[in-house]
Parts: sequence; structure tokens; C-alpha cells
Amino acid sequence: MRKKLVVGNWKMNGSRAVNAQLLAGFKDSGPWNADVVVCVPFPYIAETALALTGSATAYGAQDCSAHEQGAFTGEVSSTMLADVGCRYVIVGHSERRAYHAESDQLVADKAKAALAHGVTPIVCVGETRSEREAGQTESVVKRQLAAVIHTLGHCCGEIVVAYEPVWAIGTGLTATPEQAQAVHAVLRAQLHAATDRASSMRILYGGSVKAENAAELFSQADIDGGLIGGASLKVGDFAAICLAAAH
Ligand code: PGA
Repeated sequence: MRKKLVVGNWKMNGSRAVNAQLLAGFKDSGPWNADVVVCVPFPYIAETALALTGSATAYGAQDCSAHEQGAFTGEVSSTMLADVGCRYVIVGHSERRAYHAESDQLVADKAKAALAHGVTPIVCVGETRSEREAGQTESVVKRQLAAVIHTLGHCCGEIVVAYEPVWAIGTGLTATPEQAQAVHAVLRAQLHAATDRASSMRILYGGSVKAENAAELFSQADIDGGLIGGASLKVGDFAAICLAAAH
């Protein structure tokens, strides 16, 4: 039985005052019988760590460099993330792939760098609307995951995978539980072929997850939790999703 994992992705939102309120409210609503993580903007990691002291909620970042250290202006290494207590980092989010031209290989290299420093990468994969309409969903997500499997070798059993159909992110359109489950099953089978740890790995669904649809999504056989954008910015909504994962 895989313990569910719910990850809040704040994206580029927040301020010191807003975050303090959000985290305090959130801390008061837990704990849940699920693993819960908030991935916050870099400048707020230290304060998030402090605000979550004594809570079971972990924190992480939304990206990391593939490099170790050195002349990479503006980048943040996974060594630094580990140094400030991050246990997770999102890599390959579709917004990074689309707006920063991140390739499958770069995403895989970032995942490798994170793992090397004990930070669990949450590797995002997902097809665009036109790829889905062209019947390419399976081939796209498999290609994205294959780069990571190839680069990590047997260590690929240590990652978290997040299936996020690009057309469902921030749009209010959610994949149906059946659509999501079908892709999760494909990803699980691909992981089975690569590692004997596939059945204990967590594959999250992301894309307009809300309090109202979370329970049904999370009840699917291969959906092990969610990567939550918009709804992670509201205490009540995120808490309700964490509760849905705890059942
Ligand atoms: P959303 O975002 O929940 O706002 O659709 C999910 C994500 O991009 O991780």
C-alpha cells in the first residue's frame, strides 16, 4: 500500500505576510494520514522551514540546477536546497519546459543532481492539448520519462513522478479519473520495466485538482496523490485535498 503524497506548488505566488498566514492556517489544520509537502519560491524557503517547525509537512523547491556549483548566475543547486532542509524539488514542470525550453535531458540531469544530494525529485511529465488530440499522449509521456530512467539507471526507483496534462493546468479542465488512471498505468508499466521498486513508487496527478474532485482522482489504482497549484494557495482547499488523500 503506497502512502499518498500531496504536494503544493505555489509557483511564483506569495509574500512574507501572505505565506505566514497560509502556513500558520495550514499547520493548524493537519496532520493528515498522508505525506504533505509545500514547494515554495526560493526566497521563502527559510521562513517556510521555520513556520513548519514541529509540523509533519515537508517543504521543497520548484526547480534546481543540473550543476553542482560555480558560474551559473541565477541558478540554485540541489546542494543548496539540501543545505536548507528541502526534501523535495519539482523538476520538469511544463511551465519550465515551455517557458525556459527545458529539454527532456536537462530535466533528467536535474533529477540526477537532486538525487545525488538526497533531495527527492518530483519529475513532471504531460502532453499538450494538441498532442492529446493527435493521439500522442502515451508516446509523449513515455519519451519524457524514458530520459529520466535512462539517466538515473537503477536509482530511478527513488523519484516521484507527476503526470500533469498541460491542458489541465490552471485551466479548470481536469482529466477524468479514467483518463488520468490510463496514463498512470502506462507510466507504472514503464517503471516496472526499469526498476523492481515500481510498485512502491508514487505517481501523482496534477492539473486543476480541487477539493471537489480530489477524492475520486485519488481513488484510482495508480494515482498516489496530487501536485496542486492554485488550490494549494488556500488553506481550506489544500487542507481538504490532503484530507481526501488520507482516506
Ligand atoms: P493547477 O496547477 O492545480 O493550478 O492546475 C498544477 C501544477 O501546475 O502543478
